[in-house]
Formats: sequence, C-alpha cells, structure tokens
Amino acid sequence: MERSLSMELVRITEAAAIASAKWMGRGLKNEADDAATTAMRSVFDTIPMRGVVVIGEGEMDEAPMLYIGEELGTGQGPEVDVAVDPLEGTNIVAAGGWNALAVLAIADRGNLLNAPDMYMDKIAVGPESVGKIDINAPVIDNLRAVAKAKNKDIEDVVATIIDRPRHKDIIDQIRAAGARIKLITDGDVAGALNTAFDKTGVDILFGIGGAPEGVIAAVGLKCLGGEIQGKLLPQNEEEAQRCIDMGIDVNKVYMMEDLVKGDDAIFAATGVTDGELLRGVQLKGAFAESHTLVMRAKSGTVRFVEGRHSLKKKPNLVMND
Ligand code: FBP
Repeated sequence: MERSLSMELVRITEAAAIASAKWMGRGLKNEADDAATTAMRSVFDTIPMRGVVVIGEGEMDEAPMLYIGEELGTGQGPEVDVAVDPLEGTNIVAAGGWNALAVLAIADRGNLLNAPDMYMDKIAVGPESVGKIDINAPVIDNLRAVAKAKNKDIEDVVATIIDRPRHKDIIDQIRAAGARIKLITDGDVAGALNTAFDKTGVDILFGIGGAPEGVIAAVGLKCLGGEIQGKLLPQNEEEAQRCIDMGIDVNKVYMMEDLVKGDDAIFAATGVTDGELLRGVQLKGAFAESHTLVMRAKSGTVRFVEGRHSLKKKPNLVMND
C-alpha cells in the first residue's frame, strides 16, 4: 500500500469533521452524521485506490452512501478494505461534548474483520500492557496486570468505560479494586486510542460498545503497538443468526490478528469536538482549523497533522482538491 495514501486519508477525515462540527451542540445528531457522511463520501472519489467498504454506515438498502460493499476510490491503486465511521459520537456532537471523531481505517483487501453491527465486549490497552490482559479474566486481574506493566499502584490506574447501566457491575468491580475511572458518555474508539497515549492519563478501556468501532480501534491500536480484545454479543435471535451467516463465533475472543490481519493498514481520525488526544474543529470565520491523528501500522509512524482550511475558497466545507 502506498504510504502517500496516509495524507489522502487525512483529507477525508478533515472534510467529515469540518462538515459535522457545524452541528455541534445543536441537538441534531442525524444532521451532524449526514454532514460527515456526505463530506467523507465526496472526497473518497478523488483517492487513488480500489476500496470496498467492509465497515460502514449500514447495509446497501439502509444507507445511501458508505454502505457495506460500496466501492470507493478512483478505481486505480491498491485493493483495500475500508472501515469508516464518519461521525463517531453522534450524540457527543449533538450535545457539544467531548471526543467526537471523524475516523477511517484501511487495510489490504480481506484483512479487516467484517464485523456485524452489534455489540462487542472489549478490553483495550496501550503498548506497555500488551500481552498482559485477558478479557475473560476478572476485572481486578486486568487492573493488577496493567498496574504492574506500568510500574504503578492499582490506585493510580485509570480505567475508561462508557457510562451505561449495563456497565454497573464492571464499574463496581473497578471501584472495589481501588482503581480510578473516567466515565465517557460515548465514543469508545477515542477511549481505546487514549490508552496508548500517556498524556491522556487513561490506562485501560473496559466495556461493551459497537463491534464496528472495535475493528476501527484495532487498526488504530495496531499502529500504536497496543492491544484490543473483543467478543461479539448478539442481543437476540436475529443477531445470533447474523453471526452464524457471517461466520462469527460468539464464543471466540477476537484478538488483534483476528480484527485486523497483517500490518499493511492506515488509520486516520480528525477531532470534531475537543478530546484528551485531539482538539476539535475550530471555526474561525474565514477558515477552519483541524487536528488529525494519522498512523501507519507497517512503519509505526504516528503523525499529528494540524490543518487550516479556507472557508472562502471552499464555502461548502468539503475539500475536493
Ligand atoms: P454513534 O456515533 O454511532 O452514536 O456511536 C457512539 C458510541 O458511543 C460508540 O463509540 C460505542 O461503541 C457505541 O456508541 C455504544 O453504543 P450504545 O450507545 O448503544 O451504548
């Protein structure tokens, strides 16, 4: 895969983030999502690749664009799997909260898990704790392992988890173990990535979120040398059947290599609203500023890209050049 694709992916997530940032705090999550999706889709047409969406906005009959199976790119260049989440954290943007991202990952064709859109139980850590966690182990064992790996007391460990009633038991266990917690309203892709950056203060992610977000986070953590493990959690008969049809084993722990094979993969995320890792889009009248993280698994390169975009030359906030 061409390394120059990295910068092309930045253009895509920047466009999506700028378009959806306009909707910050306006209570309209669908509008924010549509804006991100439309902007992301329009830039894809200019990218030299033969992409197929494997994680997207839904099935062909339920999503007008970026649907699973949709072909993207100019039709020339590498054959890749594409995983998109044009707006990761629709409620976050609607409320003007923290950590909404426009995010995208690509990998060599056939290398991303085609995860069904259902819940996944997850545990994620940064590089120091790789190989030390086990999603099937008790919460306290994982906290102890992370504390040891990072050479600190369990009381200093910070776990992040989406604030939902379904997580009461895990939250109680983390508190009983004496560790600290950062509850997040939404956005477990950012939650997972944050475990790999010391400056965020987050050591481990626990809890149940979307399976597609799990695959996207896996690409990010592969680039960062971190780890995520996941177990699919069908909620009803229909979802259980879907797993069977898609060859998903609900008893299996999906490890990094199962979620994203090999290391020819690129990850890009642009902040829509402010977060621990990335600032959100700043709309300054004549221009917009963006903050993007872009990484390649093969080289392990991690870049933070600050963009300044003229809104006079591109009033529709969609960059097509
Ligand atoms: P959306 O952007 O699709 O709203 O997803 C946000 C999110 O918080 C994900 O980060 C997370 O994986 C999932 O939703 C959790 O699902 P739920 O809101 O049902 O608890």
